[in-house]
Amino acid sequence: MKVLVIGGGGREHAVVKKLSESPKIEKIYCTPGNAGISQIAQCVNIKATDIEGIINFVKTNPMDMVVVTPDDPLALGLVDRLNEMDVPAFGPVAKAAEIESSKAFSKTLMKKYSIPTGDFEIFDNAEKALEYVKDKKYPLVIKASGLALGKGVIIVENHQEAVDTISQMMLNDMFGASGRTVIIEEFLEGPEVTVLAFTDGKTIKTMPSSQDHKRALDNDKGLNTGGMGAFSPSLYYSNEIEDYCVKNIFYPTINAMKKEERNFKGVIYFQMMLTKNGPKVIEYNARFGDPETQALMPLLKTDLYDIFNAIIDENLDKIDIVWENKASATVVLASGGYPKEYTKGYPITGIEEIIQNGITVYHMGTSVKDGDIVTNGGRVLALTTTADTVEEAVTKVYNNINRIHFKDMHYRKDIGRK
Ligand SMILES: Nc1ncnc2c1ncn2[C@@H]1O[C@H](COP(=O)(O)OP(=O)(O)O)[C@@H](O)[C@H]1O
Ligand SMILES: [Mg+2]
Repeated sequence: MKVLVIGGGGREHAVVKKLSESPKIEKIYCTPGNAGISQIAQCVNIKATDIEGIINFVKTNPMDMVVVTPDDPLALGLVDRLNEMDVPAFGPVAKAAEIESSKAFSKTLMKKYSIPTGDFEIFDNAEKALEYVKDKKYPLVIKASGLALGKGVIIVENHQEAVDTISQMMLNDMFGASGRTVIIEEFLEGPEVTVLAFTDGKTIKTMPSSQDHKRALDNDKGLNTGGMGAFSPSLYYSNEIEDYCVKNIFYPTINAMKKEERNFKGVIYFQMMLTKNGPKVIEYNARFGDPETQALMPLLKTDLYDIFNAIIDENLDKIDIVWENKASATVVLASGGYPKEYTKGYPITGIEEIIQNGITVYHMGTSVKDGDIVTNGGRVLALTTTADTVEEAVTKVYNNINRIHFKDMHYRKDIGRK
C-alpha cells in the first residue's frame, strides 16, 4: 500500500515512523516532510496548506490512504476534497474540524449538550465585550475564537488588562480574523490533562493520558510556544476520572457532533482542567497533538495503518488497540530565541550517538544542507524515551541530552518534574 502523510513536524515524523512499521505499507510519501522523515519516507516539497498542490499530487500519484494531521489543511477542507475523489483519507472533514478551528463553535456545542466547561460569553462586538468585563472577577480568560498558533489565549489579571487585550484582539487585529470573535471565559484552576482519542464518530478509543508544557521557560515562565515537551501518563488522571470523562465528556462530544451533522472521524484531543468541581473541557483539537504524539507513538503496539483504516471504514469497535503499559517522556530542543526570532541553518551533531543510547529522535524543524542536517524551525528535535515511570524516562532523556549540539540550542529542564 502507498500512503501519503501531510505535514512536516515532529508529530508527522512520529506518525510516519509508526506507519513504517506496518507490514502492509510499501511506501510512504510525506509533504513536505523534513530531514528525519526523509530517511524513512519520500518527501515531496508541497506545503501542508497548499491544498491544490496536494490534490494534484494525489491525482498523478494514486494513494491507498492520505493521512492529514496538521490543523490548517483540516480546516481548509483537504479531507472533504479527498473524500470527493474517493481517496481514503484519515482526519475530520472541515465541518467537524471546526471543533478546533472555532472556539465559539466548540463552546456553544458544549453549552448546548451540557458538556462540562468553564462559563463563558462570546462577543463579536468590541463595545459589548468591554461593557461585559467592567464588573467581573479576575483573573479572567480572553480567547481569540480562531486558530492562532497557540498564542490566542490571554489570562488577564485586572480590568485594565482586559480592556487592553480586547482592544488589541478585536480592534487592532492582533490575531487577524481569528481574533475578531472572542470568548471571555471563567478562569479554571487545577491540573491540566490531555487525552487524545481515536474515533470513527461512533466509538471512542482513548490513548494514554499526557501532559504538555506550553511555556518556553522552566517553571511555566516565558512565552507560549507550540509545546516544549510532554510526558505520559498524567499522574492526576485516575481510572475514576477516566470513567467520568468517557461518560460525561468523550461520548457526549462525538454524539453531539453526529447530531449536528458534523460526524467526527480521526483523532480528537480533549484538553481538560481537573477542577475541584470535576473535569472541565478547556478546548478540543481535531488532530494529534505535537509534542504529545511523540510521547505516545512509541507506546502503541497495534498497527497504526489498521487503526486508520478502521476509522475510515467506521469499524473502530472491531479493532483492539493495545498500548505498552509504560511511561514516556519527550523533551523538545528549540532554536535560541524561539518563539520569537531565531536563526535557521545551524548544523546539528550527535543524532546518531543519542539514538545508539536508546533515545528516539523525532525531527521537528530540520532540513538537509550540503549533506548535513541543519536547524530549520523554532522547534528542532523531540527526544523521546519510554521507561517504567515518567521520572525514569525523563531522567534518561536529560542524561543524554548533551550529546546533541547546535548553536544556541534551548530546552526546558523541568519536563515531567512538576
Ligand atoms: N478557562 C481557563 N482557565 C484557566 N486557564 C485556561 C483557561 N482556558 C485556557 N487556559 C490556559 O491557556 C492555555 C491555552 O488555551 P487553549 O484554549 O487550549 O488554547 P490554544 O491551545 O488554542 O492556544 C491552556 O492550555 C490553559 O493552560
Ligand atoms: Mg490548547
